[in-house]
Amino acid sequence: METHNGHSSKRIRLMVIFGTRPECIKLAPVIKALEQCGDFEVVITVTAQHREMLDQFLNFFGLEPDYDLNIMQHGQTLAEVTCRALSGLDDVLGRESVDMVIVQGDTTTAFVATLAAYYHRVPSAHVEAGLRTYDKMQPFPEEINRRLIGTIADLHFAPTAKAKQNLLREGVEPERIFISGNTVVDALLECLERLPPVHPNSFGRMLLVTAHRRENWGEPLKRVCRALIKILEHFSDVKIVFPMHRNPAVREIATAYLSSHKRVELIEPPDYFGFIQLMRLAHIIVTDSGGVQEEAPTLGKPVLVLREVTERPEAVEVGVARLVGTDENVIVSELCKLLSDEDAYMRMARKVNPYGDGKASQRIVNRLRCFFGLCDEHPEEFKPSF
Ligand code: UD1
Ligand code: UDP
Repeated sequence: METHNGHSSKRIRLMVIFGTRPECIKLAPVIKALEQCGDFEVVITVTAQHREMLDQFLNFFGLEPDYDLNIMQHGQTLAEVTCRALSGLDDVLGRESVDMVIVQGDTTTAFVATLAAYYHRVPSAHVEAGLRTYDKMQPFPEEINRRLIGTIADLHFAPTAKAKQNLLREGVEPERIFISGNTVVDALLECLERLPPVHPNSFGRMLLVTAHRRENWGEPLKRVCRALIKILEHFSDVKIVFPMHRNPAVREIATAYLSSHKRVELIEPPDYFGFIQLMRLAHIIVTDSGGVQEEAPTLGKPVLVLREVTERPEAVEVGVARLVGTDENVIVSELCKLLSDEDAYMRMARKVNPYGDGKASQRIVNRLRCFFGLCDEHPEEFKPSF
């Protein structure tokens, strides 16, 4: 039997390619929804641009890659990641015949996978498409990775209306863009259902801190650490928990500046359950992470964003996140305000998430079914409910 797109009724083969912790978290619910649908066969390929931090999440979500390129090397340069991933993916795509490649976000793995798919004349779909700062150095190299993926991809799953507008402005045809919501909210809500309630912190107020962006390596991260020390000096009921990314560029500075303070816990990166529990226990989250900015509003935790610009402006506009950059004085003054002014804190501690509602993966599957001619009706897009 043939569908109206000329495909036979055998299952459509999709290769989902990823390499790092956030891609794994954000693609796990998509893979699950694709597998439950029955129309698709999923081939999972990991570059393993991250190793331990990827394995932790493959295990957590019960994902077993069909191909593992194992490309991570310590201190890897961007060019090395690009070359090893491209060569490995070229080989895998040469062996496997697939109908589409699916990538997520803005990592070098995501960009290279889209490029490799194009070289093999395989269509590609981009989950979390259309995020832009229009500053090619921030975030580096993610802004350019996203734009390059946007040029090549055939289907663009924009998480928000703003992301769709960016793509339209760049000339992407409207029928190729679909507002799905962000799949990280699917992952988060599913995990929250399986987690026991958290009990209030007996110690006092906890600041949860993460940092890893390349543009923050060196001096900017040192300024952040100095600001955190000042906050500990001002507020004796505050403690800091800092799950350290495995990148030595982050660990060396965090350890040198913070490890001797008795109200700082520098910890190994916890798995998703552990990290979600920390977010729930936190009073304020201080981070340069993309995913954490998207998750915190579901939990009603104010986020101070350690960036000059963000490609995720929605939470700032809604008032639950604030851009503080890495200026020591600005970080200290914004934290002081939130720690001393209850009203200012409560204005930011609201559970409103502009990024998703937990149904993004199912919307993506519905849209993919249309793309492959398995349904006629255009599925509904995501709209925030506030
Ligand atoms: C990468 C992505 C970034 C994403 C981030 C999520 C690129 C260019 N960067 O940044 O967009 O926000 O992942 O965390 O795609 N390391 C380990 N074990 C691990 C992971 C990393 O030891 O499991 C160390 C290695 O020394 C590695 C270094 O961290 O060389 C940097 O890893 P890399 O993937 O190049 O960049 P990230 O900063 O992790
Ligand atoms: N995360 C985690 N453990 C940690 C730090 C982060 O599980 O120690 C999760 C977090 O909840 C979010 C994702 O990892 O879903 C974000 O990853 P990261 O900050 O490395 O990358 P980014 O989102 O900035 O690309």
